[in-house]
Amino acid sequence: MNINELITKLKSGKALTEAEFESLLEAEGDDMLCLTEAARETAERIFSRKIFIRGLIEISNICKNDCLYCGIRRSNRCADRYRLKEDNILECADVGYKLGFRTFVLQGGEDGYYTDETMCRIIRSIKSAYPDCAVTLSLGERSRESYGLMKEAGADRYLLRHESASPEHYGKLHPSSMSYENRIRCLHDLKELGYQTGCGFMVGSPYQTTANIISDLRFIKAFKPHMVGVGPFIPHKDTPMRDFPAGNIDLTLKILAVIRLMLPNVLLPATTALGSLRGGGRERGILAGANVVMPNLSPPDKREKYSLYNNKLATGVEAAEGINALREQFDAIGYKIVCERGDYKDIDVR
Ligand code: 5AD
Repeated sequence: MNINELITKLKSGKALTEAEFESLLEAEGDDMLCLTEAARETAERIFSRKIFIRGLIEISNICKNDCLYCGIRRSNRCADRYRLKEDNILECADVGYKLGFRTFVLQGGEDGYYTDETMCRIIRSIKSAYPDCAVTLSLGERSRESYGLMKEAGADRYLLRHESASPEHYGKLHPSSMSYENRIRCLHDLKELGYQTGCGFMVGSPYQTTANIISDLRFIKAFKPHMVGVGPFIPHKDTPMRDFPAGNIDLTLKILAVIRLMLPNVLLPATTALGSLRGGGRERGILAGANVVMPNLSPPDKREKYSLYNNKLATGVEAAEGINALREQFDAIGYKIVCERGDYKDIDVR
């Protein structure tokens, strides 16, 4: 099959063979351009040339988990830990609201301080102060009951990357105290409870094979998430995975394109990690089918502490205050940032 036939098959919703997925992921030059261009067209058909913005508030870098790739893992003694209290989080939301953000993403490590009671109080405060805004949570694995309570308190969306759809590969990235099964249980609970749910994975994470990536793509197709977070792995010097190479940008772009073509309506960010690897990553993500960016709304003095990987961008156009610079960057490629909630719309677009 040539590239156009592969793209047509992907768009039709039919299942691709292993070899067909491989050809897509190996596309180079004009073939890669065909793939990303098709994804860009699909995104444009559904969202016009609009880009949704989400204000990211990194509420805590304290984490009970010990994921081998992550800079805020429990065993990292070098991490300078912090947590934001409710009034601090509300101040961030206030700054964000005035800048035009209508979605706040509360992201943090798995920090026991944020009990269900505390989280529900924070969610209620944000929703009552900004009833026209969506609240997205990204707080890791919790019980179904906890997810249910936070949903009742008003949370709209939840991001929980599945990290790897291959249990064996998942096991190489995580300590034995964590399990693939629980991760997937969480994702199903979230979806059943009515959250707009996001999964995702890192490209080029240690030990990842092409077959693993294809499993991730198949998982995403079957799970039908509302959002998908995919960015390159970037090593962090204070983790056991410090010596592994960073993920490849072109491969990340091809994966974004494949996801856009498989799930046309999906909300797909050009991630910070993609923007953090040399120039133009974020714009190239948009041109490969992404339609969301998540600038940083955390208190400026905390940003460098939320270090998942080295050289993470948190200033300039990656910072919420840099929204005008961001606007100009997207203007230059013909896209416009919009101040809307940007909810998932379940419309048949094929
Ligand atoms: N490189 C890139 N992404 C990372 N994440 C954690 N550590 C790294 C890293 N070293 C991603 C994980 C997690 C999300 C919050 O950040 O996929 O789900």
